[in-house]
Amino acid sequence: MSIKIIGTGSALPEKKVTNDDLAELVETSDQWIRERTGIGSRHISTGETVARLSAAACERALADAGCAAEEVDLLLVATCSPESGVPCVACQVQGIIGASKAVAFDLNAACSGFLFALHTAWAYMETGIYRKALIVGAEVLSKLVDWTDRGTCILFGDGAGAVLAEHSGHNDVFRFVQHSDGSRGGSLTCDTRRLKNPYVEIPLQSPWIQMDGREIFAFAVRRVPECIEEALAQAGMTADDVDMFVLLHQANYRIIESIAKRLKQDVKKFPVNLERVGNMSSATIPVLLDELKRAGRLKDGMSVVMSGFGAGLTWGACVMKW
Ligand code: ACO
Repeated sequence: MSIKIIGTGSALPEKKVTNDDLAELVETSDQWIRERTGIGSRHISTGETVARLSAAACERALADAGCAAEEVDLLLVATCSPESGVPCVACQVQGIIGASKAVAFDLNAACSGFLFALHTAWAYMETGIYRKALIVGAEVLSKLVDWTDRGTCILFGDGAGAVLAEHSGHNDVFRFVQHSDGSRGGSLTCDTRRLKNPYVEIPLQSPWIQMDGREIFAFAVRRVPECIEEALAQAGMTADDVDMFVLLHQANYRIIESIAKRLKQDVKKFPVNLERVGNMSSATIPVLLDELKRAGRLKDGMSVVMSGFGAGLTWGACVMKW
């Protein structure tokens, strides 16, 4: 038994911010950003919330599959940038789209969030608990970014992507590996609240994303190919058998090139959208999937690998038949 993705959808904020726009805020240039990261522009929220973007992406995924919101059993939102601690984003989305019977909750594994949520949905469906699930990756990272830090503010974008997956009786390939290493979590952090009660007050470290870019870069180019090979081995496949690598990590084109090289694969098998949208963390994979599906580039029966990593640190890979 396995699961099948039967619908995809995505939503981006209206405002597009180019590298030249950023060069008016911090000391940088379009040339530096393009050469060092591959990013040309990104979409930034001017009021769109994680919940609203998620709901729009879900509605498109449902329409794509011809499915009513009431049929959904499970609604998972992967995000590290919710507007509120409670209610969770998934419950807000459930209310907006009217998925009245769905169980809804959030999951945070930063950039690996969508993959981890997909795996969670798979586990529920594999055991027969639920049959139809909406899985969302959504971020408004622009509210967590220090807009005076040129090392991070150039990287991130806002957006949401969703897939509708259903239990499938077929024995399709679906192999997954997940890893976490909390001992290295200090390389990408973002504090949100300080402890302040009648007994103690602990100052906030920083309310903005703090990142050791070189450390993350080195970690990604080593761990991502390793875990892709681990997932492929479980599926009895090699990288040569894969038609398309939908990498999560869309922060830096140089990372993607390096991973393609390590796997001895043509970089053309690694579609990218970071030139237009930057790194949207957990939203990257589902937005890219939706773009590829709508462009007719994902064909039935194709072998697809999704992989990535993020703060935590967390990383994982998934091998599936489209
Ligand atoms: N414009 C111009 N110069 C810059 C900029 C900028 N935007 N940013 C940094 N520089 C300068 C630095 O100050 C430094 O100058 P110096 O040599 O005078 O000190 C120089 O450029 C080189 O800096 P590096 O940090 O070494 O640049 P690097 O080539 O490593 O690129 C980058 C930096 C793009 C951040 C890269 O390290 C990277 O992409 N890392 C991975 C980031 C990532 O994947 N993050 C994951 C986020 S996932 C999540 O969970 C949210």
